[in-house]
Amino acid sequence: MNVYDSARMTDVLAPLGYAPVAHPGAADLVILNTCHIREKAAEKVYSELGRLRELRDARARGDGPAMTIAVAGCVAQAEGQEMLRRAPQVDLVFGPQTYHRLPELIARVERARAGDGSGAGKGGAAANRSGSGVMDTDFPVESKFDHLPETSAQHGPSVFLSIQEGCDKFCTFCVVPYTRGAEFSRPAGEVIAEAERLVAAGAREITLLGQNVNAYHGAPPDGEATWGLGRLLRRLAEIEGLARLRYTTSHPRDMDDELIAAHGDLDRLMPYLHLPVQSGSDKILAAMNRRHNADDYRRVVERLRRARPDIALSSDFIVGFPGETDLDFAETLRLVTDIGYAQAYSFKYSARPGTPAGTLEAQVPEAVKAERLASLQSLLDAQQEGVNQDSVGKVMPVLLERPGRRSGQLVGRSPHMQAVHLDAPAHLMGQIAKVRIVAAGPNSLSGRLAAEPAGSILPMATEMEARP
Ligand code: 5AD
Ligand code: SF4
Repeated sequence: MNVYDSARMTDVLAPLGYAPVAHPGAADLVILNTCHIREKAAEKVYSELGRLRELRDARARGDGPAMTIAVAGCVAQAEGQEMLRRAPQVDLVFGPQTYHRLPELIARVERARAGDGSGAGKGGAAANRSGSGVMDTDFPVESKFDHLPETSAQHGPSVFLSIQEGCDKFCTFCVVPYTRGAEFSRPAGEVIAEAERLVAAGAREITLLGQNVNAYHGAPPDGEATWGLGRLLRRLAEIEGLARLRYTTSHPRDMDDELIAAHGDLDRLMPYLHLPVQSGSDKILAAMNRRHNADDYRRVVERLRRARPDIALSSDFIVGFPGETDLDFAETLRLVTDIGYAQAYSFKYSARPGTPAGTLEAQVPEAVKAERLASLQSLLDAQQEGVNQDSVGKVMPVLLERPGRRSGQLVGRSPHMQAVHLDAPAHLMGQIAKVRIVAAGPNSLSGRLAAEPAGSILPMATEMEARP
């Protein structure tokens, strides 16, 4: 989501003459787009700000224009005022829902810097040297999507499209409902139009984004009932030239019949799903307010596998949630063993300010968390490596996305999201090639071109035959 937001910020700033530079030292404006999900991510912002202050001061010793330092994203949203106090080098702080106002915000910073005082607004803009800056952490009534220019900054065959934001689920460990705000779904017609533009600009794969993407319920293009994600995917799959669709991140409770059916019916919907479960213990799932138990999750996966037998699954896990015992943790390991994941992300529980779980008494000691994380990760790593090993010898359609590290090499993705490295001519970039997998590592595959693609898109039948 932050990658997408950063690209959109670039779009907003382009008419003002801003363009990306390779190194922050060369920038007139540096924006840190931040994440508040765990303490480690949030703390990183302050060490980055220390480095930026040095760069800004070095620049100030020359005679170029001053460097403006801005902090965007969820740390800005959550800590705006405190951040301006703790890091006086910050000129501008704005949240994830207000970046369409960037031109106006930058103008306010410039006015404040010029010292005419008229930059003072909400948050109190003043000369940034005095340690106060411009702040906009509103949840505005207007949708930023109605004010953003058309997407232009995304390049490459695989692109993101944000369709839903915010979250009403209130898992007790999570800051997202507070930092990103309430659930909002973009109207279906707007999503379709943006997808068509992206495809016209060369996208072959679109990943639909949302904090809770499968809770999508967008206004319909035809004025009838709202569209769910299944319906939207069906419509997007009709866009000529669009070869692949994915979506992330989902909640198990929102995997409705229409969406599961879409996995069976739509060849362009890739057989890979990130479906976070967080824990395998019913007691912990209840304490997390996940509103499903471990067997509900198993049943959802069963239905998905009935619809699309080759679907690969991925998940997020939290170990050491307050009150988690060895037995609870063993339930997580059992669930992982039952499901079998192709990929996963796992984290030590991190107490977040303002969340209900953050103040629970029964916090788990750090050493126990570390031990559980290591044992969960070794199980997940073994599963991932097993899936990768099973790919060896198979021929699969690979969307060639970018140059590899060696010259003559390209890197792409299998339908199951595995990174595939192969030698291939640069002109195949953006195409779906048939690739024979010759070797597998823990995190990626190596392959050989099995045949050049027939056209710019393989006929559907070829994608189907090639399913591993
Ligand atoms: N501590 C640890 N992990 C967290 N996540 C969200 N909040 C926390 C937290 N407080 C993880 C969840 C979520 C992923 C994006 O980050 O697993 O799915
Ligand atoms: Fe956070 Fe996801 Fe739970 Fe929403 S559903 S509160 S984003 S973990």
